[in-house]
Amino acid sequence: MHKDVERILFTEEQLTDAVKALGERITKDYDGRKPLLVGILKGSVVFMTDLMRHIDLDCSIDFMVAKSYGNAAVSSGNVKILKDLDTDITGMDIIIVEDILDTARTLTAVKTYLLGKKPASVKICALLDKVTAVKAGDAKADYKCFDIENEFVVGYGLDYAEHYRNLPYIGVLKHEVYEN
Ligand code: IMP
Ligand code: MG
Repeated sequence: MHKDVERILFTEEQLTDAVKALGERITKDYDGRKPLLVGILKGSVVFMTDLMRHIDLDCSIDFMVAKSYGNAAVSSGNVKILKDLDTDITGMDIIIVEDILDTARTLTAVKTYLLGKKPASVKICALLDKVTAVKAGDAKADYKCFDIENEFVVGYGLDYAEHYRNLPYIGVLKHEVYEN
């Protein structure tokens, strides 16, 4: 285990099993359709690349970089798109793939932005959901792997100051790391 990690929340094996089950569920739910998976960079990359290999459909992928400002519960228009989609999503079934739902500010704004492009549907797929966190937007996960407590976690794509994304498990970061 990494020296900055206090404890492991989800092992590599637990992640593999949960992501596989989720991919199989999406495969059933989207039977006969061709969804576009939209990964929100950078936190979603590990989850996205594992998940897509368990989706047995003619799906495609794209990525976005979004930064949100202010309170999405008040106004969901204040998101800055730093990298937009390459795809014209009109009439498409969109699945937004994100690492974690915390305040839901980012995903509320991104979902509103994508709905403006007239897709057939937009669903949210998050690896983790901080269910007890104070919410700043009304976006909810349509698909998720795990609910977690309000703790700061890293690994499997999730970072603290761009570190730890490469850890193969998800762990709780030691307080002393971000208090210094
Ligand atoms: P939200 O807009 O507050 O839901 O922010 C979600 C984003 O905050 C995620 O995409 C992560 O980049 C980041 N984030 C929130 N909680 C954590 C955490 O525990 N570890 C790492 N990143 C986090
Ligand atoms: Mg992120």
